[in-house]
Amino acid sequence: MADENIFRAVLIFCLFSFARGNNIVVDEECLNYTVYPVQYELNIYPYMQVNGFYYDCELIITVIANAPNVRVISLDAKDLELESGSIRVFDGPHDIVNNPRPFEFDAIKGKLLIYLREPLKMYSEYNKQFYFIKISFRKYVREEKEGIFLVKYNDEKSKNLYSYLFATRLSPNRAKYFFPCFENPRFEAVFKFKVYIMKQLNELQYTNTSLVIAEQQRQTSDNHYIIIEYIPSPQVGLHQVGFHFSKFVSHRVQAKHTNDTLIIWAPAEELHDYEFIHNYGIMIIDLLLEYAKDNRPLVQGPINLIPVPVASGMNGYEIGSWNLLTNGAHRIVNIDQFTSIQQIEQMTFELTQQLCRIWLGNPGEIARTRWKEEWFKEGMATYLAYYFLTQYNYDIQTPLRRHLAGYGLRMKHKAMLLDWHKSTPALDAFNSSLAIEIPPRYKELVTMKTGAILWMLENWVDSEKFHQALVRYIKSRRGKFISLESFTLALDQDTIECLHQFFNGSTASRILGSWFRRRGYPVINVQVLRDRIPNAVQLKQRLFSFTRDNRVDTDFLIPISYMVEKNKNCYNCYQPRFTIGAQSYTFGENLNGGWIILNRKGSGYYRVNYDAVTWRLIAKSLKENMNAIDELNRAQIVNDVFALYVAGDIDVQLAMEILDYLDKERNHIVWESALSGYEMLTTYEAACNMTKYLYKEWEDFMIKKVEPIFMQLTKSQDNKYLTRLFRSNVIQLACELNYRPCNRHVASVYQEYKKGKHTYFPDCRMSYFYISAYNSTWPLNPIEQDDKWIADEKIRAMNKFYGKIPVGEPRPMPIVLSTTEKPIAAVTEKLHGDGASAIEYSIMILCIAVFMNVFTNRLIQI
Ligand SMILES: *[C@@H]1O[C@H](CO)[C@@H](O)[C@H](O)[C@H]1NC(C)=O
Ligand SMILES: *[C@@H]1O[C@H](CO)[C@@H](O)[C@H](O)[C@H]1NC(C)=O
Ligand SMILES: *[C@@H]1O[C@H](CO)[C@@H](O)[C@H](O)[C@H]1NC(C)=O
Ligand SMILES: *[C@@H]1O[C@H](CO)[C@@H](O)[C@H](O)[C@H]1NC(C)=O
Ligand SMILES: *[C@@H]1O[C@H](CO)[C@@H](O)[C@H](O)[C@H]1NC(C)=O
Ligand SMILES: *[C@@H]1O[C@H](CO)[C@@H](O)[C@H](O)[C@H]1NC(C)=O
Ligand SMILES: *[C@@H]1O[C@H](CO)[C@@H](O)[C@H](O)[C@H]1NC(C)=O
Repeated sequence: MADENIFRAVLIFCLFSFARGNNIVVDEECLNYTVYPVQYELNIYPYMQVNGFYYDCELIITVIANAPNVRVISLDAKDLELESGSIRVFDGPHDIVNNPRPFEFDAIKGKLLIYLREPLKMYSEYNKQFYFIKISFRKYVREEKEGIFLVKYNDEKSKNLYSYLFATRLSPNRAKYFFPCFENPRFEAVFKFKVYIMKQLNELQYTNTSLVIAEQQRQTSDNHYIIIEYIPSPQVGLHQVGFHFSKFVSHRVQAKHTNDTLIIWAPAEELHDYEFIHNYGIMIIDLLLEYAKDNRPLVQGPINLIPVPVASGMNGYEIGSWNLLTNGAHRIVNIDQFTSIQQIEQMTFELTQQLCRIWLGNPGEIARTRWKEEWFKEGMATYLAYYFLTQYNYDIQTPLRRHLAGYGLRMKHKAMLLDWHKSTPALDAFNSSLAIEIPPRYKELVTMKTGAILWMLENWVDSEKFHQALVRYIKSRRGKFISLESFTLALDQDTIECLHQFFNGSTASRILGSWFRRRGYPVINVQVLRDRIPNAVQLKQRLFSFTRDNRVDTDFLIPISYMVEKNKNCYNCYQPRFTIGAQSYTFGENLNGGWIILNRKGSGYYRVNYDAVTWRLIAKSLKENMNAIDELNRAQIVNDVFALYVAGDIDVQLAMEILDYLDKERNHIVWESALSGYEMLTTYEAACNMTKYLYKEWEDFMIKKVEPIFMQLTKSQDNKYLTRLFRSNVIQLACELNYRPCNRHVASVYQEYKKGKHTYFPDCRMSYFYISAYNSTWPLNPIEQDDKWIADEKIRAMNKFYGKIPVGEPRPMPIVLSTTEKPIAAVTEKLHGDGASAIEYSIMILCIAVFMNVFTNRLIQI
């Protein structure tokens, strides 16, 4: 039995490192190691006792030598108590450890060197030589979150009030805190667990739930222990290993179409708080299987979902886990009294993303699918997560495919906020990184940008075709390798006719390549020459940047789609028709004195700037008949206008003129995009030369715009999912604007909540913390604490930004328009040293003001 497994493991191992065709493992990195692990066998004896939490472990690592003359085996081990004399290396029955000097343990560096009496024989096809390293050790488990840690939680049912559990978090490189190992994320080995559970004793916490990354095989018992033996795991990296030991109880649900089961584990009296996420999870699994039109189970064996009751340090799932999904309990739990709508949004996204990762390829599959570029898998999982969130639509089912819409824009806007700085890498810079190796500061860039580009692709080739091609491709690669190259090739073949038609011979792979290989994103400058018939439309692209540097010309292949105001026979309007590259590109189109808007549905990963005349025509349409422009384009325009203003590409007057219609806007997607746009104003060293005066002016302007929707939403009794989300966003914006009625509203909701009345306080709790600089008089629970951290971070960032910008001077125009005297006084005071020019200046201001007044009046009349 054991030999068979080893044989299987080695077979996969050989295939992996020697098959040149599928050269996934980075050879240089692996070949430099002289000893490879093939299997880890762990016999764990855990003890849960108030005066000592630890486990004893007997570890057997099966290794092979990959070089001649290896006399030292080097392992990683940290914070472990090794028993002297316990370390042995067996070649068959012979121990070959060098007895006079068996090993050396550098506890600081975490290196364990084992010295051998004779060199290891190199493994080859003809000499299948295995060695067995045996080590016994004890691990004291503490509350620090290093690898394996102790969690102490409140447990009303327990006679001691507190209960304890062991949990693990081994990625990226914490396995050495759990057991001695070869800490290289590219090594994959089989793991065999046996857990010895102490029988019930008075001084021990009786703890009988033990979960590892494999299914339980059998349970036996002797005088002292219940022995739980697990089947050998598939080949996995150390970061995919996990171990959970607690007195949790469970509840399971089963998928409709397969044997996939989702099991939730929690303390007995809290199980019902996780009902929401549990039902949600199984519904997403059903949706996934329906999407794939497949009855292939996601994993062999169940998926265990484990909320770990920690206050911090577990924010999200471990990327590599597939059957042992652990997350901070506060990130999964849904208690009406505490959980906000934004937190529900976050928890559903996170779980969906993790389930999509699992569907895309995981060690628990019947035949394992591997991804050559793991960043691409991360992006695909994110895109699919938003896709399924859209289909789920807060449990309102329809048989039709829904379009990504608001979530698509959310991905795009999140990515764009990160993707403009000159130090930002291109996506393919992560080609050879494992998902766990992508630095945390780039995680969101990688996931959101890749997702946004896939959304753009979906819109070029038509949603139905895209999803069919995607599913067909993933299914065709089951048990094999998935790479960006083969994905784009498959897409080229599946969508060739439509691409030819629209992209003038460019293929999907060529176009996608241009987005994955370059950093940043372009802004297209549109110039309409209206003095000829047909009008000429000139397009030119360059890199977008908030600061003055880094604005080089770019050559992204951008498929252009557009719509026009006044032309019924606009052929190009309905599909992306041509790509533009480096040169400026001009085409004819009759606009009949109307606008043209690029980037239909806002799905293109770029921004668009128009000439002033076109912008004003757009502004006029928005004011008079905003529905002439669909919600996604309005949302995109609003976000672009903020970005272009901050980047100094359009001036404050024009920006406000376009945004002026917002007081009539009632669409939640547009307001979400306005919120993210408004927050760009606090970008450092942006080319708009922000000053305190200007900032105040923006605040005042936005307050007027947000007021009507704020009033409407705070009065409304509607508490449907989308309305709550919308309200929460609008309150956040209004409170960030320092809008007094918002502060009052939030404070009064809080008062009612304290009296036990208002159940929707959590939706505006973050804003409450933000405006009140709340100092805790009683401890916050981890769910509330999450909001507090966000609010504190916002306050810190705001103060830092505000402290750095100059006071500046008020702009001439609004002085007279707002008919207050004070700002003029301020200006004259500033210029006091030079009396004459001060007067001239004031006169000039008046002239401009009068002119502007006339001008704006005219605009309003039109
Ligand atoms: C292999 O390891 C040696 C010593 O640890 C190091 O000097 C060398 O650069 C490594 N080579 C590669 C290709 O990583
Ligand atoms: C653990 O023990 C409790 C109490 O004896 C029992 O109800 C429960 O089923 C056991 N759980 C497991 C996973 O064996
Ligand atoms: C589900 O499990 C049962 C019992 O283990 C087995 O008979 C059946 O074939 C499985 N079904 C699928 C679709 O895998
Ligand atoms: C990343 O991989 C793609 C597809 O295989 C390749 O075209 C590209 O040149 C690679 N980029 C880098 C920086 O290695
Ligand atoms: C289409 O391709 C041809 C030849 O490659 C080129 O001359 C022409 O300008 C392209 N047209 C567009 C709209 O890109
Ligand atoms: C910001 O200041 C710089 C340097 O003083 C100036 O060149 C630039 O025109 C200003 N930008 C705007 C939008 O006022
Ligand atoms: C909150 O507490 C901090 C330090 O404990 C103090 O500096 C700050 O002034 C307090 N803020 C308010 C609003 O009471």
